[in-house]
Amino acid sequence: MPETVTLSPPPVFFIKSISEQGYSLSTAIADLIDNSIAAEATRVEILFDYNSFPLKLFIADNGNGMDADSLTANMRFPSADLDIYRGQRDLGRFGLGLKTASFSQSRRFSVISKIGNEAYHGRTWDVEFLKTTEDWTLIVEPASFADETIKLFDKCSSNFHAHDSNFEVKTLVVWEQLYKLENQAKKFEIADEVDELRSHLGLVFHRFISTGKVQIRLNNQLLEGFEPFPEHEKGVQLVSENFWNTEDSYIRFQGIILPKRSAAEAKEGSLIWVPYGKTLDDMQGIFVYRNDRLISFGGWLKTISKSGWLQFARIRIDISNINDSQFHLNVAKSSLKLPFGLRKAMKEMVEYVTLQAGKEYKERQAAKVTRPSAGRSGLSLLTRETNGRGVTLRINPDFELIRQLETGLDADNATRLSILLQLIEGKINQLWTGEIDSATDVSEIGSKTRERMQRLKEYYMNAGYSWEEVRQFLTESFGHENAVINIIDNLT
Ligand SMILES: Nc1ncnc2c1ncn2[C@@H]1O[C@H](COP(=O)(O)OP(=O)(O)OP(=O)(O)O)[C@@H](O)[C@H]1O
Ligand SMILES: [Mg+2]
Repeated sequence: MPETVTLSPPPVFFIKSISEQGYSLSTAIADLIDNSIAAEATRVEILFDYNSFPLKLFIADNGNGMDADSLTANMRFPSADLDIYRGQRDLGRFGLGLKTASFSQSRRFSVISKIGNEAYHGRTWDVEFLKTTEDWTLIVEPASFADETIKLFDKCSSNFHAHDSNFEVKTLVVWEQLYKLENQAKKFEIADEVDELRSHLGLVFHRFISTGKVQIRLNNQLLEGFEPFPEHEKGVQLVSENFWNTEDSYIRFQGIILPKRSAAEAKEGSLIWVPYGKTLDDMQGIFVYRNDRLISFGGWLKTISKSGWLQFARIRIDISNINDSQFHLNVAKSSLKLPFGLRKAMKEMVEYVTLQAGKEYKERQAAKVTRPSAGRSGLSLLTRETNGRGVTLRINPDFELIRQLETGLDADNATRLSILLQLIEGKINQLWTGEIDSATDVSEIGSKTRERMQRLKEYYMNAGYSWEEVRQFLTESFGHENAVINIIDNLT
């Protein structure tokens, strides 16, 4: 037997450190709602009266509840082995969420719970108390505590409209000493957080809300679900579903491309395309659902980078808890990593969705820059043309200034003007498509363009430029493809 020394974690240090798992108010509350849903609750009531100090936050549900022994056991850090078998619909994984989420926002929290018609039991973790005992001492509350707490909960609810005095609490979590929020001295900052909370919960639990499995109320106001894949909206393109097979499951993924009108509508405040407080840009990317609960959104999980023109692209992935180890789910259940194999399997879908989203984006930009002022063609410098390559921008020959210039010029200068406009047009399209290396489609180079190249060569060489300089200029203007270089080298 080797010499040993027992090192138990000092509770206060441990609690403070382990609770910094990257939780926000929203992700912490979502972690508690996971527990309620896993306990088959059909209603969750969140009450947070930020006008009454000291601040308290209540999260109650009507789920299965816990008896005294399991309540005690479930207050332990962690309360279960990570590798235990969990039911297929269980939203938990670490045996930590209740404690870490609570301590991420509060320094004292209590849970009261009961099963069936039995009496309530109450347990409290309190950092101040732990400082005095210096051990993992959980407070076992007296029977009167539950009554008092339920009364407080009811009183808080009655401060808001739509108080439901018939709601029977099975499990109630109370957070006190909300040190993070109390530091935000200004009420409007807290109100902002509550708005963000409403939006976050409506998003991550939208599948439970829309199927009616659970009703979540925040300060007695029913939360509405936000569906990021509004496939039945006009103009939405749905890409056919695909799969990635792992040893014991298959993972579904599916892409969607929002119509370009969504950009203007989202800006005007429509809540079809974005949840409250978010932009299309925030909502691009891959959405991962674990047992129908949205875990990750708002980015591309290292498949590609975020970009303004991808604002119309979304892909959803459905996983279950048997895939957890492959996805590196974090304790706050707000982020994960895509396994390499899945990223590979999704490559084509990502490419397709981003290509289509790019088209929508460009068409929207093109529509904006080519919209004729006052509806008159003479006032529109650019027009657009849709062909096999997508949208190409053209300088409008009917633009009043161009028309006036053309009529005043002799034939030679008219040619110079026309070539100049074509060159500018080429540059505009290079910038606009992002295809800096191919100014012209080789197949589009007809006799007219050849004639222009010929004239350009003459104009520049007559002005004293060397053939090497002119040749470089022509390839940079018309393209580096062999076919184009061939034409350039055959100019006389
Ligand atoms: N609202 C609730 N109703 C009934 N049981 C609950 C409730 N909240 C927690 N529990 C029980 O307490 C246990 C511990 O919860 P906790 O959130 O700490 O861990 P977990 O849900 O098992 O895993 P994770 O850390 O991934 O959330 C749960 O597994 C569940 O059995
Ligand atoms: Mg949990």
